[in-house]
Amino acid sequence: MNLFWSLFITFVTLATLMGCAALILWCKKDLNGINDGEDMGHEYDGIRELNNPLPKWWTYMFWGTILFALLYLALYPGLGNYKGLFNWKSSDQTTRQLSASEETLVKEDGINQYAREIFQAQEKYGKTYRNLIYVKGTDTFLPLFEVAQNPEAMKIAQRLFLQNCAQCHGSNARGQAGFPNLTDKAWLYGGEPQSIKNTIENGRQGNMPGWLSAYGQEGVKDLAAYTLSLSGRKVNQEEAAKGKTRFVVCAACHGTDGKGNPAFGAPDLTDNVWLFGGSRKAVEDTIAYGRQAVMPAWKNILDEGKIQLLSAYVWKKSQPLEIPANKPSSVSAPVEASL
Ligand code: HEC
Ligand code: HEC
Repeated sequence: MNLFWSLFITFVTLATLMGCAALILWCKKDLNGINDGEDMGHEYDGIRELNNPLPKWWTYMFWGTILFALLYLALYPGLGNYKGLFNWKSSDQTTRQLSASEETLVKEDGINQYAREIFQAQEKYGKTYRNLIYVKGTDTFLPLFEVAQNPEAMKIAQRLFLQNCAQCHGSNARGQAGFPNLTDKAWLYGGEPQSIKNTIENGRQGNMPGWLSAYGQEGVKDLAAYTLSLSGRKVNQEEAAKGKTRFVVCAACHGTDGKGNPAFGAPDLTDNVWLFGGSRKAVEDTIAYGRQAVMPAWKNILDEGKIQLLSAYVWKKSQPLEIPANKPSSVSAPVEASL
């Protein structure tokens, strides 16, 4: 805040308080030479106004609020750039990243309330938290499928999911148009624990180009017919046959068989699971105009432990049955070892 606004705010705030004080003093004064309780000489519809003093309890309360305001303004920031005697700060408004927030924590030594509360929460919950994701007494993460079997860890992970992910993927993780369902077997980027963790940590950006300018309305229609036929939908055979000849360009990302490619996040077009809608119109729109969905990266927002919990949670959500006690059949040994 520059000096002008700082002084302006200070002046207006203090002048208002002084105005209130002046008002009380003025109301206490007998300005008309009329004694307490006497008629003021006004009469409205038979109701007379008497010169009664303000009730004492009310006056004291009024003084109390003014005193409170002055004390508050002395101790806490509020008057322009004045920092207050406690030097209190809610948070560092310039902080955007987890690492910067941790620096503030050390640097400001508890003055910044947000940093202080984070620090206190780490002290209080850190240990329980560690037990959920690390091998006891070490800095090695537990395998994700093991974390996924711990009900306490999953309870925390569910809360993290509701806070950070549900607005896009839904509170049940089943997604919505443009935001993938995380509970099924149709993965854009792979459903192994490590791929899921990678997605969450670094984010993803799908890029499906649009083809309207290259192939025109007709070409798009044919391609949509062929695409829909891949998942066994009834289509115009003639259109589909024409679409098939054009599908070579699509094969670069979706594969010759249309089964997709996790390296590009190109979806499987044969499973009748549709990220952007499976109606003929929606598929034609996708092919004509393209789609660019963005999954944000979380590594600068959530710490690694939270990402570990969320990865386990999402992986578990996609498992059809309860995971067997020691080893899930769907995770191969080398994957486990790398986690
Ligand atoms: C702003 C919306 C948004 C938020 C918030 C969000 N996501 Fe996503 N997420 C997406 C989109 C969009 C995609 C699909 C990206 C694409 O199509 O390339 C995606 C993809 C994913 C995938 C990959 C799915 C696949 O099929 O491979 C996973 C896993 C995932 N998100 C987990 C999470 C988790 C966990 C969180 C919370 C920490 C989260 N997302 C928060 C929008 C979001
Ligand atoms: C450069 C790679 C690339 C090429 C080439 C490509 N696609 Fe895609 N396609 C993608 C990606 C990536 C997505 C997912 C987009 C997203 O998540 O934002 C996608 C999504 C789609 C979808 C939506 C699927 C769903 O579940 O809603 C359809 C349909 C599709 N592509 C059809 C085609 C057709 C037909 C062609 C050829 C004309 C084609 N694509 C060419 C990468 C490609």
